[in-house]
Amino acid sequence: MDRIRIVGGRHLNGTIPISGAKNATLPLMIAGLLTDQTVILDNVPRLADVGLLQRILGNHGVDIMVGGKRPGDTEYKGQTLHISAANIVDTTAPYELVSKMRASFWVIAPLVARMGQAKVSMPGGCAIGTRPVDLLLMVLERLGAAIDIDGGYVIARAPRGLKGGEIVFPKVTVGGTHTALMAAALADGTTVIENAAREPEIVDVADCLNKMGAKISGAGTSRILVKGVAKLGGARHSVLPDRIETGTYAMAVAMTGGDVTLEGARPELLQAALDVLTRAGADVAATNTGIRIARNGAGIAPVEVVTDPFPGFPTDLQAQLMALMTRAKGTSRITETIFENRFMHVQELVRLGAHIHLDGETATIEGVDKLKGAPVMATDLRASVSLVIAALAAEGETMVNRVYHLDRGFERLEDKLVACGAEIARISG
Ligand code: EPZ
Repeated sequence: MDRIRIVGGRHLNGTIPISGAKNATLPLMIAGLLTDQTVILDNVPRLADVGLLQRILGNHGVDIMVGGKRPGDTEYKGQTLHISAANIVDTTAPYELVSKMRASFWVIAPLVARMGQAKVSMPGGCAIGTRPVDLLLMVLERLGAAIDIDGGYVIARAPRGLKGGEIVFPKVTVGGTHTALMAAALADGTTVIENAAREPEIVDVADCLNKMGAKISGAGTSRILVKGVAKLGGARHSVLPDRIETGTYAMAVAMTGGDVTLEGARPELLQAALDVLTRAGADVAATNTGIRIARNGAGIAPVEVVTDPFPGFPTDLQAQLMALMTRAKGTSRITETIFENRFMHVQELVRLGAHIHLDGETATIEGVDKLKGAPVMATDLRASVSLVIAALAAEGETMVNRVYHLDRGFERLEDKLVACGAEIARISG
């Protein structure tokens, strides 16, 4: 199993190109199931999750062609996928595939909306929380599907198609909102979605669906209106930049010190995180090509943060912020409100010499002058990169184990950091 070796203590200086967003790419690829025409996605990141979803969609009969290099393409240019679901030959998503990546459960919406039936494995447990899918099933029932659960599978049927309706989410759910947008796009009549997720990835999916001929308004607000259409067509869409990757590298620069431009990043996609970085003592500036982040000389100030749905502080940056706060001059508090078990990185950061006390949803971090390298274990995608951030500032060598977690969501992480002066390398096998 690959590991990553890091020798800390170097500042980061230079430019990091930001990739397309994993959490927009996955639902956008799944939306390709809604039409028999070709959907072309540009700026697609090369990630393990994207590769796995290609296999899952292939299992339904979807052809995916990856566009070749074009003159002038830089080495970090995103890939282009040509997604064609002309013939859906199988409406079952098997356990072997769905259990590897939860978001693949979202195929249930376009399958039942277009084909009138779907049999999708329940995703099962997850390291960061129980993560039920009850609200996604509520959406399909609200739009008229009959839902049965049998042998670990959800069987959804709507032989005469879905019907528009009112969906009121009791809590904000990104997956639930994606499911509602995709299902309602082909439903007969109008659907109103209340307390919808407002994440930028929701807006990106709605934009692409509208290019395919859907009639969606209000995406990005908590009330979305979808006028169903009988058929959707093809479209070409470029995936928005990854705000979580952006925030991760910004935290790394604040941690090590240095001056880096995050090329292609868009500040409005992660303003809450940038405000926290400014409070922590980093210099944050929008440029005409992205975001410039620097910290030179000034220490790291402690902060109090509560994770929240967008536009609040993203839970997917919580672990990275905690790594930064391990070296703050004082006491920080981070409260995690989205997932009930998203502190798996705490004991690993403690192995590097951090002082962190957990009390229910809140972690209290007493900043220390220095961290010291040690072998650590990655447990999930965002926890693993928080260990990389801490190791970049720790004295000596750190070995991060189980880095396959990282590959799910960070494209060429070592290359991007080495280009900015970090001493980091992957050790295969
Ligand atoms: C998406 O997950 C992201 N995944 C997550 O990123 C992200 O952490 C999360 O949204 C919150 O921003 C993708 O986009 C692929 P939710 P999702 O439905 O849709 C509860 C990463 O690191 N809930 O918004 O699964 C749920 O348990 C990943 O890239 C129900 O109770 O998250 C959680 O407590 C990790 N019933 C809360 O809602 C449901 O039916 C928010 O979850 C659905 C969700």
